[in-house]
Amino acid sequence: MPNPVTQHYGSTGIADRVLAAIAAGGQNPHQLLPEMLFPFDQLHARELQATEDHVAWLAPCPGEHLLDVGSGVGGPARYAAAKHSVRVTGIDLTPEFVEAARELTDRCGLSDRVTFQIGNALRMPFPEGSFDAAMCLYVAMNIADKTALAGEIARMLKPGGRLIWSEAVGVDGQAPPYPLPWGRSRDTSSLTTEAGLRNALESAGLSILEWRDETMLQVDHARNARQASETPSPERVMANQVVMGDDFLERRRNYLAGLEAGALKGIAILARTPR
Ligand SMILES: C[S@@+](CC[C@H](N)C(=O)[O-])C[C@H]1O[C@@H](n2cnc3c(N)ncnc32)[C@H](O)[C@@H]1O
Repeated sequence: MPNPVTQHYGSTGIADRVLAAIAAGGQNPHQLLPEMLFPFDQLHARELQATEDHVAWLAPCPGEHLLDVGSGVGGPARYAAAKHSVRVTGIDLTPEFVEAARELTDRCGLSDRVTFQIGNALRMPFPEGSFDAAMCLYVAMNIADKTALAGEIARMLKPGGRLIWSEAVGVDGQAPPYPLPWGRSRDTSSLTTEAGLRNALESAGLSILEWRDETMLQVDHARNARQASETPSPERVMANQVVMGDDFLERRRNYLAGLEAGALKGIAILARTPR
């Protein structure tokens, strides 16, 4: 039976569409730099701004090995490798995303430090304790058992390993509008609450070092993007539509409506495994 998550995200020709969009924007896709991809490859709320903030918060040291869980088309992994000189291994369930991530990374000349493989975040094929730090950015809304996800990431980390985890959560008694960026209906959406998320991470043995409610940051960012989309030259705002599909703008509008109505929150957490 087809997996609803990979069906939701997967489509053919992703790398070609991104390269064509870069060419249409007047840049040469044959001399590709990671930053030319950033408008297209950061598949989470606040896009590149969130990646910059969250990777800085994770504070990776040059040479460290990061795990990117649910790595999408590889944007955050390439960002971390290019800006913080780390190695990154990404894993993602959606084969078309992994294929695009590999091709785009290869074209940027980063394949020696950034690799991707197809796999389930709940059963990762790496030796225990392989990684110094991990990112899990806007993935857990597709995974019902968040304690299992957190536990599997913790298993992959060295003692004292850091984790940055971002996620949209729901609010008791409130129903967000669908379709949303991570699911076109409730079938592909597994929202927990802030309390459920805290419980999942702590049950997995992680210590929460910092907990940020980024809802208002996300609302401001999305409002600015919406204003920009009403100007005659909306390349920036069209960006994630290139990877995520034609209905992405409607899905993002619904996400903003959910945040504004108090039915959704955007949370970012820094956590650590026991030493
Ligand atoms: C909203 S995208 C975020 C991608 C990436 N983290 C980013 O921020 O650019 C969610 C990603 O999680 C992946 N995903 C969902 N469930 C997964 C699972 N069980 N194992 C691995 N990846 C999963 C999807 O395939 C998709 O690439």
